[in-house]
Amino acid sequence: MHIPPLRNILVHILAVVPLALTAYEYFTGALPIVLDRHLIIRFGAVGLAFLVAAFAITPLITLTGKAQLVTMRRSLGVYGFCYITLHLLAYAWLSNYFDWGLILRDLGERRAMSIGLLAFALLIPLALTLTNGWQKRLGKRWKKLHRLVYIAVPLSILHYFLLDRDIRDWVLVYAALVVILFLMRLPAIRRGLARIRQRTPVIVNKSKDPG
Ligand code: HEM
Repeated sequence: MHIPPLRNILVHILAVVPLALTAYEYFTGALPIVLDRHLIIRFGAVGLAFLVAAFAITPLITLTGKAQLVTMRRSLGVYGFCYITLHLLAYAWLSNYFDWGLILRDLGERRAMSIGLLAFALLIPLALTLTNGWQKRLGKRWKKLHRLVYIAVPLSILHYFLLDRDIRDWVLVYAALVVILFLMRLPAIRRGLARIRQRTPVIVNKSKDPG
């Protein structure tokens, strides 16, 4: 029997916690009356955390030389996408009762919403082609397609930033982190990091695909 590495199991456990917490709140009557906002914020925050974690894997491989970390990227990305889908569902269902007129008006009026939708739309082809089968079928085009993540992640941060919020600390932390992760993808910095850890650059080249 194939047992996945502990870090991959940890990713699955982390992904279950927010849903388990929501179920616990439901069964103990602890869910707040303003349910829509509670769930939108929870699922949005978790979705973004997973998305950025998936985006961090390639730079992390450059930094550590541990190419095997790549196996975590797919599950982090899938969970991120699932939570963002729940986030969108909570918005459309609990906040707007699937009133498409209302939703369209909101999308037109609030830039944060239209930018969030664009980020989500860019993630759809990535989520649909995450499997090994699609990776093989698309060949080089797979890497090109998955470069959409370079747009989707900053747009997600921008969505968060544009929300009408008093406290913007977290979004600034995310923004700084994403800038660092982008910088770590620059060839000169990648080479520098590879030199620092004094390994052969072979492993660095292996992780050249986006994500
Ligand atoms: C990749 C896509 C998206 C990501 C990563 C994302 C992430 C987030 C995050 C992190 C928050 C703030 C949570 C917090 O305060 O801790 C948020 C709030 C929110 N998002 Fe998204 N979101 C995305 C797409 C969307 C879309 C498409 C919609 C609806 C059209 C949407 C509607 C909202 C709303 C209404 C809030 C604010 C809730 C409130 O403060 O009352 N999001 N989102």
